[in-house]
Amino acid sequence: MADTTWFTHDRFGLFVHWGIYSLPARHEWIKNREMIPDEEYQKYFDHFDPDLYNPSTWAQEAKNAGMKYFVVTTKHHDGFCLWDSALTDYKATNTPAKRDLIQPMVQAFRNEGMKIGFYHSVIDWHHPEYAVDGLHPMRENLAFRAKVQQQDITKYREYLHGQTRELLTQFGKIDVMWFDFSYSNRDWGWSKGKGKAEWDSERLLAMVRELQPGVLVNDRLEIGGDLKTPEQYQPAGKMVIDGKPVLWEACQTLNGSWGYHRDNLDWKSGDMLIRMLVDGVSKDGNLLLNVGPNARGEFEPRALDRLREIGAWMRLHGRSIYGCGASEFTPPPDCRYTQTTPEESRRSGNRLYLHLFDWPFRHVHLAGLGDRVDYAQLLNDASEVKMSVVDPHQGAQNTTMGGLAPNTLTLELPVQKPPVSVPVIELFLKN
Ligand code: GLC
Repeated sequence: MADTTWFTHDRFGLFVHWGIYSLPARHEWIKNREMIPDEEYQKYFDHFDPDLYNPSTWAQEAKNAGMKYFVVTTKHHDGFCLWDSALTDYKATNTPAKRDLIQPMVQAFRNEGMKIGFYHSVIDWHHPEYAVDGLHPMRENLAFRAKVQQQDITKYREYLHGQTRELLTQFGKIDVMWFDFSYSNRDWGWSKGKGKAEWDSERLLAMVRELQPGVLVNDRLEIGGDLKTPEQYQPAGKMVIDGKPVLWEACQTLNGSWGYHRDNLDWKSGDMLIRMLVDGVSKDGNLLLNVGPNARGEFEPRALDRLREIGAWMRLHGRSIYGCGASEFTPPPDCRYTQTTPEESRRSGNRLYLHLFDWPFRHVHLAGLGDRVDYAQLLNDASEVKMSVVDPHQGAQNTTMGGLAPNTLTLELPVQKPPVSVPVIELFLKN
């Protein structure tokens, strides 16, 4: 049975997209986008030499940002493998890197007490038996397309299952398995998309569960999974399927690209990223935030700046994220609520966190909380926030407020916004 408790407690993880696509530095789909044949793409394999690679630095930066787990691309759609797979030569050990890059990475993140996840592409634009289709880089090369008659997807399937077994037996306990992605609904006329039939997803998942019983598996094998993975958008509310709330994790980029993309300037601000984290937790979701290291093996300054900005906020506000989820209360406009989960409330008391996305003048009114709060404070400096419950029958006159709904809690705020990205008020709820 998949272990979800740590996941709904930890809420914030690092996604790492790294591979030979970091050399052209034009998005991880470059082989598809520019329809690059293997022979031409080979130059990136031949020049992959991440001489500044030090995964301990990555792990420390992630930990300082407040991240509790990480998911790394063991193989992406171009088929290049970062570990020393016995089933292929198309791997890091055969490049100038000359070593398995996953082993030291897993060790470094484990040393920081972080949980370990593997992203693994079921798509493979390098494997000779992976039948060409409308997503394949060679999709417009008729001679290449003609070869599809000889290609045997069952051989590719055994390769996929074999490599998954390697990943789940050679690196210790794996907490998340992140497959990517199925597209059997696509049809190009001359070819169809691939999905659970091609991967034999049922058998693959059964093997994953047998090898790593507690592992969380995502929802991209077309047979459900433990985890919904909305990508590059924020869900409008809690995620519910067939009336039942489901576990979810939004995967987000820093600039629209997963792989290192040198000339992409569409970077999100640290402030926006903090709000995305808070917004997700307020809807019972996790954030898996991506970094695409460059081909020297480093996180670039633009990424480090944002991780450190998030880390500065998390250092002060982490407890409004960890062990928290959606609240039973409805927040005022321009705000979000996160509330300690029942498990966390048993440990540290039932706490409600008001995240103010916009700093209002002097007062904020909280519906339905008039008789529910013992004490209130700003979380960044634990300074008291005065509370009052205005008599709903009181009329407004000069400086006297009126017209508030019954059982509304009014908080008195300083005019100056606290010096943090998103100010948070911690409300200690009465039992
Ligand atoms: C999509 C992208 C892929 C990326 C993944 C991460 O599938 O195509 O490149 O790795 O999302 O969520």
